[in-house]
Amino acid sequence: MMTDSDRLLAADSAHLIHPLHHPSATAATRVWVEGKGAIIKDATGKEYIDGLAGLWNVNVGHGRRELADAAQKQMSTLAYHSAYAGGSNYPAIALAEKLSALLYPSINTFFFTSGGAEATETSIKTARFYWKALGKPEKIKVISRHRAYHGLTLAAMSATGLPAFWPMFEPRVPGFLHIDAPDPYRFTNPDTHVSLGVAAARKLEEAILREGAETVAAFIAEPVQGAGGVIVPPEDYFAEIRRICDKYDVLFIADEVITGFGRTGRWFGLERYGVEPDVVQFAKGITSGYIPLGGMGVSDKVRDVMNGVPPGKRWMHAYTYSGHATCCAVALENIAIIEREGLVARAASQGARLLERLNALVDDDNVGHVRGQGLIAAVEVVADKSTKQLFPAESGFAGRVTEAMLQRGLCTRVVLDCVCFAPPFVIADAELDRMVAIARDAIQAVTKDLRPVPPAVSSRLYEPVAAQS
Ligand SMILES: Cc1ncc(COP(=O)(O)O)c(C=O)c1O
Repeated sequence: MMTDSDRLLAADSAHLIHPLHHPSATAATRVWVEGKGAIIKDATGKEYIDGLAGLWNVNVGHGRRELADAAQKQMSTLAYHSAYAGGSNYPAIALAEKLSALLYPSINTFFFTSGGAEATETSIKTARFYWKALGKPEKIKVISRHRAYHGLTLAAMSATGLPAFWPMFEPRVPGFLHIDAPDPYRFTNPDTHVSLGVAAARKLEEAILREGAETVAAFIAEPVQGAGGVIVPPEDYFAEIRRICDKYDVLFIADEVITGFGRTGRWFGLERYGVEPDVVQFAKGITSGYIPLGGMGVSDKVRDVMNGVPPGKRWMHAYTYSGHATCCAVALENIAIIEREGLVARAASQGARLLERLNALVDDDNVGHVRGQGLIAAVEVVADKSTKQLFPAESGFAGRVTEAMLQRGLCTRVVLDCVCFAPPFVIADAELDRMVAIARDAIQAVTKDLRPVPPAVSSRLYEPVAAQS
């Protein structure tokens, strides 16, 4: 007899295309129905700790009545009207004003999108616009990093430095290139006279000099690389990046889609590094995922250039849903919750607890590295700690450990064999401790079954990035 669950899964595979779609995933599909705080429930009634806050976004936790009320109130007042130049609405104005108080002092002007990839497109187009407006139309290239994730629309995908996303959609947009990530575990410092952070930043200088500064529009970077496996740069990395961008007239775009709105234990991720970007982009945490919203903020320097062109050369960029009143109203209430409940400080304190608990895993056989900043962290699992070699791709480590964690009541993602953690800021102490205990148990259960790796197999992480003409 067909159960409700069988029927749902049949309808799912007949009618729904999922992100990262493949029918082989259908059998393991869980249908999510409910959430409260840091806990989510599937259609069978089983509960899980939401170890990644959805997709690094449900920062204030599930089940917030206030956010539903804010949406309901705005929708029943004004559902939609265009915010194209010449039109506006109260929530969009109030949100832009609020962000100018919250964000870096030099960033005071905002454009809204429906999500992170649209924010990436917007930032990149704005960087090109900026240089054209200043009479330097040849400054068009964009430099990003290996293992960066900036979204999957075509230009964003080209900035993304995870090659798995490319092959079936090539050619990528021309003019995008990648430098090494400032990964304290895997970056090899070629220059013993400088710190790892400075050496990693100097990869940007090398790339700019190789390409010619007159051709480079922008460098885009996440303050903490999330989907690439939670890479936390050394303390001195971004100061050197800022210096290099200034020296060669390259705009610095901070992609704060994950790090924005408290995730790192500060309101925004670059605060810790004491530098300001020229352009910042955000999404996810601005509404805690309750409704789609993203956007870009620009420094006063960039805004003045945007405002200084004649009408015929205007910034001809737009989305129907830019400044959507309901999304902005929900964002305002979400920010009010974060402020009212002191959730940025809570992300910092729960983050410290998380890192302390994870650090207890470093002596485990296959735990190569533990890292985190605020309430975003990862454990990198390796086949061999002395060579840092990963398990071979055929071992299916990521899928197996993900499923082992789900069976034990933890939902999170494993990328490049890094088990990632970014729970809602409201996660309780006992839930957090349990999350770490489940992950450890699942990692141990899966790794004990995996064959030892032959020494000749090289690391999977550093597949050369295919050159593109
Ligand atoms: C840093 C970063 N930028 C951009 C994006 C793309 O956002 P979206 O999936 O909303 O397009 C993501 C999504 O995970 C992200 O982590």
